[in-house]
Amino acid sequence: MTDRIPLLIDTDPGVDDALALLMAFNDQRHEVVGLTVAAGNVGLQHTVANALKLCEVAQVDVRVYAGCATPLLHPARDAAYVHGRDGFGDTGYAPASRQPESEHAALAILRLSHEHAGRLLLVALGPLTNLALALKLDPSLPSRVARCVVMGGAVSAHGNITPAAEFNIAFDPEAAHIVFAAFPHIDLCDWEATLDHGLLHGDVDRWLAADSPRARFYGSISRQTRAWAGERRGHRWHSADGLAMAFALVPDGALESAERPLAVETEGRHARGATVIDWRREGGQPDNVRILQRYDQARFEALIEAALAAR
Ligand code: BDR
Ligand code: CA
Repeated sequence: MTDRIPLLIDTDPGVDDALALLMAFNDQRHEVVGLTVAAGNVGLQHTVANALKLCEVAQVDVRVYAGCATPLLHPARDAAYVHGRDGFGDTGYAPASRQPESEHAALAILRLSHEHAGRLLLVALGPLTNLALALKLDPSLPSRVARCVVMGGAVSAHGNITPAAEFNIAFDPEAAHIVFAAFPHIDLCDWEATLDHGLLHGDVDRWLAADSPRARFYGSISRQTRAWAGERRGHRWHSADGLAMAFALVPDGALESAERPLAVETEGRHARGATVIDWRREGGQPDNVRILQRYDQARFEALIEAALAAR
């Protein structure tokens, strides 16, 4: 056992997941104890292959566990139009030589929660299907997790996949409902915080020019989505999962946040997948999320730059 904080990441790589993973691999205070992978940005076959490839490029010995290939109940559309058909910018990279573990992601989450009970930092960067399944198998999971950070939601309903909903929650609203109902406290990085912490394309280009295999690989897999974003969202590029990982790794960087009750809308024609915040605390529910509102931009950018330059 080391003094480093055990960090378990549930993820659906995905270009911004990849940046978050590189940030985690580069953090000396944390030890990544596993990657549990779900379908989301693209199908499970690709998200697992991408996780394995990133570990190979970064030369980290981190186990990868494949999880749920579909949402719990209803089919959902992926985000290949943002991340590429393979989720990593369709570069045609050579597959990693390593295979995923045979243990299912939901079971790995439970096992690792026991092995690191009371110390585990759990960070969820994709749809919450694996976590929901783990909770159904063992509802006592939250009692062993020291801190849970989730990238998801749009706290004032400025969604990115529908007008009201953010992608990770909209992909599997039932799973999100299970997770937010089960954990007494979640640190939340939502899509609207993401939009407030954009990265100048020029800065990103400079960081990607670092002489390191990580920067070269990341430059290539993110090229397509950076171009896509540049055409639509102007001179700043946004990394939702990167910001969530900064919040997870360096919580002191959070300069403003708000605690409130959050509920997930699982029905409705317009609002399925919306994260409804009881801003005025009218419903009598306890606060269950701390919503990140402002993060130290310089610290966020320094974490990214260092992660890309690392060897
Ligand atoms: C989230 O959706 C995915 O496309 C990204 O990887 C991120 O986790 C942003 O809404
Ligand atoms: Ca993601």
